[in-house]
Amino acid sequence: MDVETHPATNPPQRDPSSRPIPIILQYPSTTPPYLITQGAEALLYRSTYLLPSLQCALKYRPSKPYRHPILDARLTKHRILSEARVLAKCRREGVPVPAVYALDEAAGWLMIEWIEGEVVRVKLNEWLKRRKEEGVMEGQDDGELVGLMGRVGGAVGRMHAVGVVHGDLTTSNLMLRPRKGEENGDAVEGKMLDGEVVLIDFGLSSQSTFDEDRAVDLYVLERAFGSTHPRAESLFKEVLSAYGKSFKGASVVLKKLEDVRMRGRKRSMLG
Ligand SMILES: Nc1ncnc2c1ncn2[C@@H]1O[C@H](COP(=O)(O)OP(=O)(O)OP(=O)(O)O)[C@@H](O)[C@H]1O
Ligand SMILES: [Mg+2]
Repeated sequence: MDVETHPATNPPQRDPSSRPIPIILQYPSTTPPYLITQGAEALLYRSTYLLPSLQCALKYRPSKPYRHPILDARLTKHRILSEARVLAKCRREGVPVPAVYALDEAAGWLMIEWIEGEVVRVKLNEWLKRRKEEGVMEGQDDGELVGLMGRVGGAVGRMHAVGVVHGDLTTSNLMLRPRKGEENGDAVEGKMLDGEVVLIDFGLSSQSTFDEDRAVDLYVLERAFGSTHPRAESLFKEVLSAYGKSFKGASVVLKKLEDVRMRGRKRSMLG
């Protein structure tokens, strides 16, 4: 089935590329669902299933034919429920994450608020490219990037403060939502990195207040920024400085991060 053309009756189970379609998207809504990404585990659709005026993101975890069916069903259920639980907790506590609208853990889907904007990885690459084209020297005039790093640190700190660790903190799992009045992304000239940082993808998250788990989250993020650009890596201290101010106990986590880094270095030396 072409996900953009929506049959009302007798819907087939798969689209032409043989991607499975969750049952809920096989029934008519005002606009057809649109496939945004296909990761290793999940398919992400944009849909207006609930209301014509309300976009939502539908994360679908199809069953894996290579996994034992009972194990597979149990794993999918667990992931969906734990992602929803953590999102609800973050939301309740004011951590910037998408709202949960609906779910069916047995059918393998989770419907959440659609976040406008782009993931930080894309925005950061666009920004770096534009500066290169404009001939701006590295390290010069990077207040915008410093600002973004600070907002990232603050958001991660707020999440940790409520007892949640993300488990997969990469620049693809952080979104930049334009603030009201800048819906066209970089409509405000030169302010490409503006916007509110929203944390997404809690599929590997857990509820923990262990400093070690929090430090590993920061380490993963540091590596992710480092693989984007060396300049972004050197500015990671801005993330850490904002993180350090974001909750009581953050400084212990920063200390722990040094141990985690050391272990990481040793491991990479051993190959
Ligand atoms: N609520 C949302 N609003 C807008 N876009 C989203 C939303 N959630 C996810 N996306 C987009 O879809 C992509 C994939 O989503 P997500 O990171 O949740 O899935 P995944 O990495 O495939 O899942 P997992 O790692 O849990 O198996 C994101 O990088 C982002 O571009
Ligand atoms: Mg992801």
